[in-house]
Amino acid sequence: MAVVAYFNGQFVDPDGAWVPLEERGHQFGDGVYEVIRVYSGRPFLMEEHLERLERSLRVIDIPNPHTREEWAQLIAESVRRSGEAEAQVYLQVTRGSAVRGHAFPGGTAPNVSLVVRPAAAPVHPEDAALLALPDERWPNVYVKSINLLPNVIAKETAKRAGAAEAMLVRAGVITEGASSNLWFVIGGRVYTHPANRYILGGITRQFVLQLARESGVEVVEEAVPFSKLGEVQEVFVTSTTQEILPVARVFTDRRIAPALDTLPAEPPETLLPKVEEPVELWRRPGAAVVTARLAEAFAQALEKFRNYEPLLQA
Ligand SMILES: Cc1ncc(COP(=O)(O)O)c(C=O)c1O
Repeated sequence: MAVVAYFNGQFVDPDGAWVPLEERGHQFGDGVYEVIRVYSGRPFLMEEHLERLERSLRVIDIPNPHTREEWAQLIAESVRRSGEAEAQVYLQVTRGSAVRGHAFPGGTAPNVSLVVRPAAAPVHPEDAALLALPDERWPNVYVKSINLLPNVIAKETAKRAGAAEAMLVRAGVITEGASSNLWFVIGGRVYTHPANRYILGGITRQFVLQLARESGVEVVEEAVPFSKLGEVQEVFVTSTTQEILPVARVFTDRRIAPALDTLPAEPPETLLPKVEEPVELWRRPGAAVVTARLAEAFAQALEKFRNYEPLLQA
């Protein structure tokens, strides 16, 4: 299957497409994006993704270049061209192309790009681990901005330490992963950070909240303090590409630990610290009771979606 790529009204060669160098996404990260999973040829939770896209654009004052209907048609056509039933759609809107200058140039049309590629089924290792790291992102991460350097660094640091994902902690409070939302089971209830400015309100998060309510699992949209990790029975991660990922272990490094509660002023030698003296923070069997129940509900919902049945009860 071919990777399908689109730029400003045309399907293009993904390896040969030319984007202007003086492009605000390229130069400033001045843009937003979405990732939508396609199952059995159908984009999953597309309306919700398009709604979040609208909000991200509105908040940073980029006009939405397409109506919902146009987006839906563009996505459908791109998926059709890919011929791929199990795919993921990446779409990006930037403020446009203009002579470089920080303030908005005015009069530029947004640039729209989109890539469809095959999505592999998510891998769920039995012992998936999270590396606790300070959340050093700006406090407006509810905007799904293409400025992802802190996320990229956190993910790479976690990967180098053998963790599946980062567990970001802002001033003693667990926020989310580098590219996912985090969930904690305490006393049979499921806790996840409220969808305020300090996390990206995941579309999967929203869907799992609904699934949990339908399955009779009590959910609390309340941040979990890092100091409460010892009381946690289960941890899992959600995202469009990971779906529900059970976690079996959380760790950090002795030198990283102090930065989880405070904001040290000294510029670090590296932003990619090696885990040389691991500190075990939490360990339990992954995929335990509540996680397994929600993962099962999620799998059933996907099965219904594949079979064109309504996702949730009316
Ligand atoms: C920082 C962050 N949080 C959460 C998520 C999960 O969002 P969604 O479920 O919409 O994929 C993502 C997805 O990329 C993300 O980048």
